[in-house]
Amino acid sequence: MSTAKLILDGQEYEFPVIVGSENEVGIDFTTLRAKTKAIAYDPGYGNTGSCRSAITYIDGEAGILRYRGYPIEQIAALASFTEICYLLIYGELPHHDQLREFERKITYHTLLHEDMKKIFDAYPATAHPMAILAAMVMSLASFYEESDDPETTDLNIIRLLGKIITIAAFSYKRSVGQPYVYPRNDLTYTQNFLNMMYSLPTEPYKVPDVLDRALNLLLILHADHEQNCSTSTVRMVGSSQAGLFASIGAGICALSGPLHGGANQEVIEMLEMIQADGGNYRKYVDMAKDKSSNFRLMGFGHRVYRNFDPRATILKKSADEVLEALGVHDPLLDIAKNLEEIALKDSYFIERKLYPNVDFYSGIIYRAMGIPTNMFTVMFAIGRLPGWIAQWREMRADSETRINRPRQIYTGATERPFVPIFQR
Ligand code: CMC
Repeated sequence: MSTAKLILDGQEYEFPVIVGSENEVGIDFTTLRAKTKAIAYDPGYGNTGSCRSAITYIDGEAGILRYRGYPIEQIAALASFTEICYLLIYGELPHHDQLREFERKITYHTLLHEDMKKIFDAYPATAHPMAILAAMVMSLASFYEESDDPETTDLNIIRLLGKIITIAAFSYKRSVGQPYVYPRNDLTYTQNFLNMMYSLPTEPYKVPDVLDRALNLLLILHADHEQNCSTSTVRMVGSSQAGLFASIGAGICALSGPLHGGANQEVIEMLEMIQADGGNYRKYVDMAKDKSSNFRLMGFGHRVYRNFDPRATILKKSADEVLEALGVHDPLLDIAKNLEEIALKDSYFIERKLYPNVDFYSGIIYRAMGIPTNMFTVMFAIGRLPGWIAQWREMRADSETRINRPRQIYTGATERPFVPIFQR
């Protein structure tokens, strides 16, 4: 095994080097503090490997994304979302019977406890659906027992996968003042969600194939993305041995931020702002370059991808197809394409390797599907759920897991005597 050497204050220390299955190299610093009394300083964790994981592989320079070894392009073209849930969580593609049984169990658990409706009713109609989603997922812990027993955990995983679509659809119905629509056991996962969103007691609703296919694709593309902010949150909360529902609820909160999953809502709001401002996208590209403006081109840039985001490439093509199939012409799609074209030719974006990310085109497809803007990040959460679950499960089974507890470099006052208030 090769080693890395560190010289600190003239003294030499050796650390083991670990290599992943795709030849990714890491220096094992687990003994750094014990050996040297120093810590590794890495705000934002851009250089820190927090775990070994066998779930998702990304090569940001080459624009590669694979779930359990399968390229995202192949999965996106050929798989169903429930199949990918199974793959991510259990490690292998299911056989036909395994998938049918997995889907049957999820469908059976889509129904919410009737008492949960009372909680929905108590939210203001103006509540953001992400806030409701996080709180309701946390609330599952008060309805269902959690324990270390694998069978209980497995059942809770199924409950979570089943109930998240019902919670999401109920939060939407609450916000528009329509009656909640119950899940149906004769529908697929994606059909069930769309039916709960759009069905009305006064009007029968049949889920159009094009919506079903588009939703399946969007959920697959969001299903996992290794140690991103929300996934690291799930692992961090879970490392204290907090339960599945609390860990996933915390992940949903992390996802809500505008620099993470909240970006898909921000992209549409940005495009609408540009449209309202006469479509002057050059002005907004200039604003994004001007640091004093505090404005960023939302849907652009990524911590890991430095060439292109393969999910954005798939979604750009899909946006054209879905809008055409639905007969929708959305001027925001034209603005987005123009914005992308200008930014990609601009030295500011070229030098910093800033490209459209998954959120840049996903919002336009959701909009065409009739999903309201404030539900976009909820859609991201539904897609990311199997990834969070898989990562949580892997973390709990990993003998290397310790409670996550980073160190710091203290920069505050050194010791000073306390002065009682009457003497200050
Ligand atoms: N518009 C303008 N400038 C940008 C942008 C942007 N969207 N993104 C990064 N930069 C600049 C940034 O100002 C910095 O410039 P300088 O070197 O002159 O100080 C440089 O590029 C590097 O940026 P950073 O903030 O250090 O990069 P990061 O890796 O810490 O952040 C990011 C990654 C995704 C948070 C960031 O690119 C960003 O804020 N993008 C907009 C929000 C967004 O679209 N988020 C969704 C991410 S993909 C889906 C998900 O994972 O949730």
